[in-house]
Amino acid sequence: MAQEVRGVIAPGRNEPVRVETIIVPDPGPGEAVVQIQACGVCHTDLHYKQGGINDEFPFLLGHEAAGVVESVGAGVTDVAPGDFVVLNWRAVCGQCRACLRGRPWYCFDTHNAKQRMTLTDGTELSPALGIGAFAEKTLVAAGQCTKVDPSVAPQVAGLLGCGVMAGIGAAINTGNVGRGDTVAVIGCGGVGDAAVAGASLAGAAKVIAVDIDDRKLETARSMGATHTVNSRSTDPVEAIRELTGGFGADVVIEAVGRPETYRQAFYARDLAGTVVLVGVPTPEMKLELPLLDVFGRGGSLKSSWYGDCLPSRDFPMLIDLHLQGRLDLGAFVTETIELTDVEKAFERMHDGDVLRSVVVL
Ligand SMILES: NC(=O)c1ccc[n+]([C@@H]2O[C@H](COP(=O)([O-])OP(=O)(O)OC[C@H]3O[C@@H](n4cnc5c(N)ncnc54)[C@H](O)[C@@H]3O)[C@@H](O)[C@H]2O)c1
Ligand SMILES: [Zn+2]
Ligand SMILES: [Zn+2]
Repeated sequence: MAQEVRGVIAPGRNEPVRVETIIVPDPGPGEAVVQIQACGVCHTDLHYKQGGINDEFPFLLGHEAAGVVESVGAGVTDVAPGDFVVLNWRAVCGQCRACLRGRPWYCFDTHNAKQRMTLTDGTELSPALGIGAFAEKTLVAAGQCTKVDPSVAPQVAGLLGCGVMAGIGAAINTGNVGRGDTVAVIGCGGVGDAAVAGASLAGAAKVIAVDIDDRKLETARSMGATHTVNSRSTDPVEAIRELTGGFGADVVIEAVGRPETYRQAFYARDLAGTVVLVGVPTPEMKLELPLLDVFGRGGSLKSSWYGDCLPSRDFPMLIDLHLQGRLDLGAFVTETIELTDVEKAFERMHDGDVLRSVVVL
């Protein structure tokens, strides 16, 4: 029987989000219904609400979640009712050209639920990143559920579902940060701070955090930044060069998603260094760079989709590091809130007051 639950929808471009009754169908073949226990508020949810991702309103927001599998459809063998899972937005298909080449972290044909969740009048909802977890329950493809150690708190586990995984992965997977590297991270929200923590875990010699907000720089220090630069008052390119013997950092991670911060990342890296873009730009943004500089500075310019993660490999590993006390995921949770507080959480995020607000159900 389809169920009625409460969920947070974004009805139209820049309209306030609100809690509505939504209909969650029973899981069909390959699908699962998950009872959500916690879901973090990510900047990408705000991008959806602003129409920055696409125009397929109404959206069912929320995609950084953990919960318990309630029921599964035919043919589902990897997860069962009662399993504690983190939801992912890359359910590796195993069949596409990326998967067949042995690069499943790029999977180009990731699965979502085939059935649609709806409003009570039948309007179909677009779940954010194929998840839609600011809801008491949601319907996903079973491959979007990754089992992890149930002894971890849901509000902490859920963070791996998006921002924290994206940031840590930007450093350790995409940027391939290694022991002794110098790393700079531009933008130290949830994603950037996770990149700081990832670089630190990987053994970087210097981790330079850059933000325009001193509060964010302070948290970045607690996550492992060795140096901080407020780019409102200091030229970050000059500062990063100065801190790296005049050369620039080996890896610069851009976690804002704007042309001006990308440009800073581009010029703040050493020759043959790596730029990782993990911030998500909006459609109207353009970047102009001298092509000779692109050539002459060498190295690699990479984008990081979801931290190039493999949920089945990376989520349990990071949860283990957390449980061993080696990765403080709890430090990302500024506040826990209710479903009705998501709009307010967007304002607080916009004002820079939080690293992560997490809806707890
Ligand atoms: N690539 C991915 O898979 C992925 C996954 C999740 C989120 N994201 C994206 O990552 C970005 C960051 O997300 P978040 O949740 O950390 O957002 P956030 O709002 O918490 O953090 C953004 C940070 O950037 C800082 N900032 C803003 N303008 C700046 C500037 N000009 N210079 C330096 N710092 C500046 C802010 O002070 C803030 O600390 C967003 O674009 C989001 O959509 C990407
Ligand atoms: Zn695939
Ligand atoms: Zn996200």
